[in-house]
Amino acid sequence: MIRILRKHVPCSKEFLGKSKMKRRKVLIGASILSTDFMDIKNTIKKINESDLDFIHFDIMDGVFVPNISYGPHFVECVRKHSSKIFDVHLMIKNPLPYIKNFVDVGADIITIHCESDNVLKSLKLIKKLNVKSGIVLNPKTSFKKIKKYLPFVDVVMVMTVEPGFGGQKFMDNQITKIEKISSLISEQNKKILLEVDGGINFDTAKKVIDVGANVLVVGSFLFSQKNIKDTIKTLHIL
Ligand code: DX5
Ligand code: ZN
Repeated sequence: MIRILRKHVPCSKEFLGKSKMKRRKVLIGASILSTDFMDIKNTIKKINESDLDFIHFDIMDGVFVPNISYGPHFVECVRKHSSKIFDVHLMIKNPLPYIKNFVDVGADIITIHCESDNVLKSLKLIKKLNVKSGIVLNPKTSFKKIKKYLPFVDVVMVMTVEPGFGGQKFMDNQITKIEKISSLISEQNKKILLEVDGGINFDTAKKVIDVGANVLVVGSFLFSQKNIKDTIKTLHIL
């Protein structure tokens, strides 16, 4: 079971192992990448009113991935309207110079790719700035590549689509990798969260939870549903 802070204060840096926590089997984060940014206030209002655990921000530089999304100013604007946990996923070739910017605008978790530059330096900086750190693997990357980073992370995130775009189909061939990483975490550091990002819906959520995932990012599927609250409720008890 995972413990999370229910009444999260903006920019609070704690979300695990503190008092006033509600226990959960899985944490659910909303990826707002594919939503209508002209309607962002309304989207955030719906998220705030739901039992969602965090908001997932996809930061794309057009180099590491073939798409450009948004930067720290957007995160800062959303922070003014939400006290949820902010999970910032950096799809940036060299994340190092941008980490402080995202911490300053309210990131609670920052995840960087193991395929990017300055990985260890970036993870150390995230920790130094008192934010939860995470390492992400692309679908083609072997689980072995993250072993050396485990002592420096709070989260391992497995991509179940090629990063760059929302709304893609879940890659079933990542299931074995999730299972292997889950065993690795149990052997080495049980406190690390195992997050899955891409193509999550009720079916795929069940598949990844069954092999050990405990944090799910949900984008297109969530926002295509009539009732976000009910969808989250269902995901929480899968
Ligand atoms: C892909 C992003 C994901 C994605 C999730 O590069 O990292 O967060 O937007 O959205 P869905 O659920 O639509 O795959
Ligand atoms: Zn993401």
